[in-house]
Amino acid sequence: MTGPLAITITINGEPATRAVEPRLSLADFLRAEGFTGTHVGCEHGVCGACTIRVDGRTARGCLTLAVQCDGLEVETIEGATGNGCVADLQDAFIENNALQCGFCTPGMLLTADELLQENVSPTRTEIREHLSGNYCRCTGYQAIVDAVEQVARQRAERT
Ligand code: FES
Ligand code: FES
Repeated sequence: MTGPLAITITINGEPATRAVEPRLSLADFLRAEGFTGTHVGCEHGVCGACTIRVDGRTARGCLTLAVQCDGLEVETIEGATGNGCVADLQDAFIENNALQCGFCTPGMLLTADELLQENVSPTRTEIREHLSGNYCRCTGYQAIVDAVEQVARQRAERT
């Protein structure tokens, strides 16, 4: 049996050195650190509620071990909303009623932002495909696609 391992993860720009059990998921680690916007739904990599960024790429917090992120940069929804990078998406989600309970929303925002960074003018099909790993049990997705499409247009107009 291996005991706790010392790791350092930079969370939203702040390094945190902790001793963690090797089997601790990154999602549980982050939630214990107070970043409870990382939601835990299926815990099997299916629903996308636990989506976070690791070194700039979205990842499943429930399928990633905290120890795998030793020395890496992790961004949670608290970081993304704090630095304003998803502010336009947040506004559009509200405007389009693209959230109800909000359980899926942190993961949706991070995944949508990733799409818009890679593809400034996605089609509705491309938006649906990119968000297909993020489940929403409330909205029926239409309003979410509307919101992402709206932000794509707004970002294109600003450039
Ligand atoms: S909780 Fe991680 S994908 Fe569902
Ligand atoms: S708003 Fe409830 S799960 Fe998406």
